[in-house]
Amino acid sequence: MNILVVGGGGREHAIVKKLKESKKAEKIYVLPGNGGIESDAECEPVKATDLQGIVRFAEQKKVDFAVVAPDDPLVMGCVDLLEERGIPCFGPRKNAAIIEGSKVFSKNLMKKYGIPTAASETFTSAEEAIDYLKTAPYPAVIKADGLALGKGVIIAATFEEAKDAVNKMMCEKAFGESGSRILVEEFLSGPEVSVLSFTDGETVVPMVSAMDHKRAEDGDKGLNTGGMGAVAPNPYYTEETAKECMEKIFLPTVRAMKAEGRPFSGCLYFGLMLTKDGPKVIEYNCRFGDPETQAVLPLLKSDLLEIMLAVREKRLRAEDVRFSSGATCCVVLASRGYPVKYQTGYQITLPQTGENEYIYVAGAKREGGALKTSGGRVLGVVAAADTLQDAVKNAYALAEKIRFENAYMRRDIGERALKALPRIGNQGR
Ligand code: AMP
Ligand code: GLY
Repeated sequence: MNILVVGGGGREHAIVKKLKESKKAEKIYVLPGNGGIESDAECEPVKATDLQGIVRFAEQKKVDFAVVAPDDPLVMGCVDLLEERGIPCFGPRKNAAIIEGSKVFSKNLMKKYGIPTAASETFTSAEEAIDYLKTAPYPAVIKADGLALGKGVIIAATFEEAKDAVNKMMCEKAFGESGSRILVEEFLSGPEVSVLSFTDGETVVPMVSAMDHKRAEDGDKGLNTGGMGAVAPNPYYTEETAKECMEKIFLPTVRAMKAEGRPFSGCLYFGLMLTKDGPKVIEYNCRFGDPETQAVLPLLKSDLLEIMLAVREKRLRAEDVRFSSGATCCVVLASRGYPVKYQTGYQITLPQTGENEYIYVAGAKREGGALKTSGGRVLGVVAAADTLQDAVKNAYALAEKIRFENAYMRRDIGERALKALPRIGNQGR
């Protein structure tokens, strides 16, 4: 089969590497891909948001199956366009991708179907939001409705901070139209778990759970980033929690989407918080998470392409989806200064990888044969091992061998998970 993957980060590199293992995969194209993905697939400089360009390319190359990975094209309706031209896809249609595209939509869905989440109020006027915030409990969580590159969530400790956040989102339009509606949400606390799942609109098959590390600095300090590292499985996700999530969150969500006439097909990502009142949904994503995918896919033993085809053909229930019993750690090597301002263009020297070691390229381009940094997150350095201890140790040992100027990484990926391990089992996977 000729396969097209839309996207160009570390997540897409992990997906491409896994698809390549399939006997059915002949040619893999990636739009736009990056300088590292180029070693595994044919990349063309068509932007992931250039939907017409993507469709044209897919038709020209006689693509048999497309995997649309990033949020923007999914929310814009890339799958709808490709499917209209007879190209089957892995990924939700536009009317289902809204589960990530609009936080107001997903909040209303959860309220209507009794899916546990933080209490919240929706506002379309800044004055009304500010009025409400005068007497709201603090900290208060303020969220822009639409996609905001992962920056549309502000946790305000005081009324002043909340007022600034509302003004930034609604009046200054810091996130464009994403901020024309906002949610003010109850602040929840507890360990966070990312559960990526395969779903064909009826059956839900969760992948191994993961723990993201969103903040830029050690000790979960500094600015929010796209993710500085991940471990899988997440030790807080016990067997009991997994069962509860399936019953109260995963199946009800997929059934709710179907009942709304918006069947979800693809990878549905549940961002959960394990509160003292049980697991609650913090966010849904309509796609594979990044960097979680880089930690989760190396543990997948089954054929990813076969699973994706089963999802598309609504026969996931009968599909064999197996993960190995080990653990992984993904350390993100970033450009110093990310997520704010950083220099790029530095040459990267990659070491040979051994068994159970993976280097996924997120932000690099090829220039005259040399690989050079071109983004904030540059590499995902991953090790798999029987235990989380070894996975963390091996991922850092591999990261130490990589050289490029201006490189930055967190030194404590996996530390929180390791502290939790002796107390909490990871039987939930
Ligand atoms: P999101 O972009 O929705 O993933 O939110 C970014 C981060 O904000 C999450 O990973 C949480 O750490 C935090 N967050 C979001 N909503 C809440 C909430 N209701 N209570 C506490 N923290 C939250
Ligand atoms: N790592 C979080 C996300 O992909 O949104």
